[in-house]
Amino acid sequence: MNLEYAGSEALTINTQTPPGSIPIERVAGLIKAEKLIFLIWDVKNLDKQESFLQDFGMKTHEKTTNEIYMRGYGDEPYLYYGRKAKKSAFKGIGFSAKSRKDLETLAKKTHKKIEKINRPGGGEVVRLTDPNGVEIEVCFGIKKMEMLETRREVLPANTLNHRPRINKGQRTPLMPSPILKMGHCVMGALNFEETVNWYMRHLGMIATDALCIGDGSPAVAFLRLDLGSELADHHTIVIGKGGGDGYLHSAYEVVDVDAVAQGQQYLKMKKHKHVWGIGRHILGSQLFDYWHDISGFEFEHYADGDVFTSEKTTEYHPLDSGNVYAWGDDLPKGFFALTFSQVTGIVKGLIKGDVTIPWIKEAKKAISRPARPWL
Ligand SMILES: [Fe+2]
Repeated sequence: MNLEYAGSEALTINTQTPPGSIPIERVAGLIKAEKLIFLIWDVKNLDKQESFLQDFGMKTHEKTTNEIYMRGYGDEPYLYYGRKAKKSAFKGIGFSAKSRKDLETLAKKTHKKIEKINRPGGGEVVRLTDPNGVEIEVCFGIKKMEMLETRREVLPANTLNHRPRINKGQRTPLMPSPILKMGHCVMGALNFEETVNWYMRHLGMIATDALCIGDGSPAVAFLRLDLGSELADHHTIVIGKGGGDGYLHSAYEVVDVDAVAQGQQYLKMKKHKHVWGIGRHILGSQLFDYWHDISGFEFEHYADGDVFTSEKTTEYHPLDSGNVYAWGDDLPKGFFALTFSQVTGIVKGLIKGDVTIPWIKEAKKAISRPARPWL
């Protein structure tokens, strides 16, 4: 991607060392994970979080005094598994394996046990921990559910040459936008290379795109599942260096742009905190809309994302706020701002040697360039 813009020097990228000069090489995975199926959370107020998630487009599958299981309209019994806790926190990610044999291979190679899952849908799991302490559950045999009834096709659009909608209007109901599936989870990790490598090695993930700083080294990696000739989302896990450690956002697929907008209307009516959108991303192309849950964790609705087979090779681009979106509302001030814990993380990273002062300067310069200098 070339970000040259004739009217501004601000977008001049250092091409002496092109992005990807230090490439992300593919790694042979212990297994190839099949799907991202749920996130694991500690939740301070289960009732309020349940209410937010319902407004966001999930349905309560099961709730006890200490746990909550929220599902979408697909066949997974839960996309959000919350455990009552003193403080709300992101704790982990659940993937499915393609076969029990894969689970056995993973258990053997990581010296872990295969355990039974004592949750709705049962199944078995190998529990791992990523380099940043995120609980990674690789599951097999979780019983699928009946899908819930909802619109799964885009609304018919009238164009100049094709007018399927005659004598009727285009109306979307004022209701939560039904979540069809989990899309991706984005995390910050100062030990970037180690973390990216961990996901490639343990889950067979491959890099679709990478954003690089001026020395050519990747600072953000968009990783997808390796599904061979089957289609995988542009990214399932994103690792960003410099955003501190831990959760940045998770994203949930809805059917189309009308569903994204319908969800926005409903969440606004319910007075939830809007973060950014509607817009269209560049890498992955998704139509997006970002929200805060009751604890300030970011949740994204998206539709119309790119898909790839395993053949597609990695592309490298300059790290730049202009690379984040093609159109839409301006990136909110503070979208890249660091929280206190992220600053603490960077200080720790400096001490450990995961980041250096010149690296921080390069990264700051990259994200400080105006995203839309022509506006
Ligand atoms: Fe996203």
